Amino acid sequence: MRVVIVGGHGKVGLRLGRLLAERGDDAVGMVRTHDQVADLKAAGVEPLLLDLVAGSVGELAAGLEGADAVVFSAGAGGRGGPQATNAIDGEGAVKVVDAAERAGVRRFLMVSVFMDAGRGRDLPETFENYVRVKRASDVHLAASALAWTILRPGTLTDEPGTGRINLGPAIAYGAVSRDDVAATLAALLAAPGTSGRVLELTEGEVPVAEAVARVGR
Ligand SMILES: NC(=O)c1ccc[n+]([C@@H]2O[C@H](COP(=O)([O-])OP(=O)(O)OC[C@H]3O[C@@H](n4cnc5c(N)ncnc54)[C@H](OP(=O)(O)O)[C@@H]3O)[C@@H](O)[C@H]2O)c1
Repeated sequence: MRVVIVGGHGKVGLRLGRLLAERGDDAVGMVRTHDQVADLKAAGVEPLLLDLVAGSVGELAAGLEGADAVVFSAGAGGRGGPQATNAIDGEGAVKVVDAAERAGVRRFLMVSVFMDAGRGRDLPETFENYVRVKRASDVHLAASALAWTILRPGTLTDEPGTGRINLGPAIAYGAVSRDDVAATLAALLAAPGTSGRVLELTEGEVPVAEAVARVGR
């Protein structure tokens, strides 16, 4: 399976690329700077140099040509204020969805955000904007003709993965390691029965393969 990871050098994206390459998939990592190419190659990931913000839908579609699936795991990460969030997590994501449709890619996994993130805390408007923009991108994807899955992880950590998760349409809010997010994305790519699902993800007790098999039924 040829999978293009948008945000290929991100903390989740690079972990996912490595996992896919290890299991024999063609993993392609979209990055916007040449400096990150060597890290991708070291992980067995084919680099694709494209900037989400500067690139047009046509240019992005050309980059996605021949892919079986796209995973959107890019983001401004709070850097650059609302403008960057709007351009990357918002307009950027929408352009990639449109580009995937134009390129004839069937499967699309969106790394979204748990909508309860930070609820009850006094959050800055920038975070509120981030969640609003992520939801708008999900809405655009869900209205597309793609075989989409929207994954909404809780707060991400860099703790080592446990390989055990809680995954479902409505679960209690919590944290989850980036290792386990990547493992879940890899399992979802191999489970077409999870198309058309919005899934929340936190750390939990169920092995990743079993958790994904349960929601795919
Ligand atoms: N942090 C959390 O607790 C949390 C919770 C739930 C969901 N999420 C979501 O999880 C996803 C992955 O998170 P992460 O920790 O892996 O994020 P990350 O390490 O910040 O990775 C984001 C990637 O997006 C890339 N990117 C930004 N702008 C781009 C552009 N114009 N063109 C191409 N690539 C661009 C970045 O590349 P550069 O190195 O060039 O900037 C970076 O590699 C994000 O979508 C995030 O919104 C995060």
